[in-house]
Amino acid sequence: MNGGAAYDGAAWAGGPALVYDRLAQVLVEATPAPLGGRRVLDVGAGAGAVSKAVVAARGRPVAADLSFAMLAHDRPLRPPAAVADAARLPFSTGVFGATVAAFLLNHAPDPARVLGEAARVTEHAGPVLASVFSSRNSHPSKAQVDEVAARFGFRVPAWFRRFKDEIEPLTATPALLAATARSAGLADIVVTERAVDVGVRTAADLVAWRLGMAHLAPFVATLEPDRRRLLVTRAEAAVGPDPQPYRPVVLILASRAPFTAG
Ligand SMILES: C[S@@+](CC[C@H](N)C(=O)[O-])C[C@H]1O[C@@H](n2cnc3c(N)ncnc32)[C@H](O)[C@@H]1O
Repeated sequence: MNGGAAYDGAAWAGGPALVYDRLAQVLVEATPAPLGGRRVLDVGAGAGAVSKAVVAARGRPVAADLSFAMLAHDRPLRPPAAVADAARLPFSTGVFGATVAAFLLNHAPDPARVLGEAARVTEHAGPVLASVFSSRNSHPSKAQVDEVAARFGFRVPAWFRRFKDEIEPLTATPALLAATARSAGLADIVVTERAVDVGVRTAADLVAWRLGMAHLAPFVATLEPDRRRLLVTRAEAAVGPDPQPYRPVVLILASRAPFTAG
């Protein structure tokens, strides 16, 4: 896995949560069976976007993530949580009524193994949901903000280059994501691709989203407050007063766990 160590809950909540909270609702709504009353594993839970959506759907979330800093964010308001690697989950077979993995597979060098683990810990025919970004996803502000950050000394971390060039493409089309789900042994597989209006449409929100992402946030945290404010101001100027709204193009996998002997 890549980038787990770079994720930090406080930085996330101030920016990327603007995007990921809405995307979590969309994923949970794609369930092939109601989540209400089920114990639901939120794997790669991050700052808890899916856990919140599961609670809204009357499910009982349990969070797992490689990053303690992400799980620690908002701790008193969060469900039970475990620091765990999604490729080797420390849970027994079939103990969850459903499993949801939002924007986790795109961090996995072996995404079939991660989905296989999701299938293993989910009861027979329980929903297994996952989302990733489509290869068609893009927004001009990504390059605009990254270029301004580079002028302040930002260098793209090696893990992020590998993530973009080698790992993210493994599941970034409907055909690849469906094939990954099949090789993980999942049943009733449906993959849909859609652009989601997440309500991020001002330069301030676009810059907050981008600067809070895991490849940039650790660099931003090293800047003195005045430099940080200047970076934000310059990034907002680069994005401009009337930006195109961010409508991320995502792939949604809805499926069910197969029969398990456990
Ligand atoms: C893009 S964030 C998504 C967070 C959350 N699911 C959401 O939608 O807001 C990816 C999360 O996956 C976690 N992650 C990366 N590799 C992991 C692994 N091997 N096992 C568990 N979590 C992992 C990261 O720490 C991060 O919190």
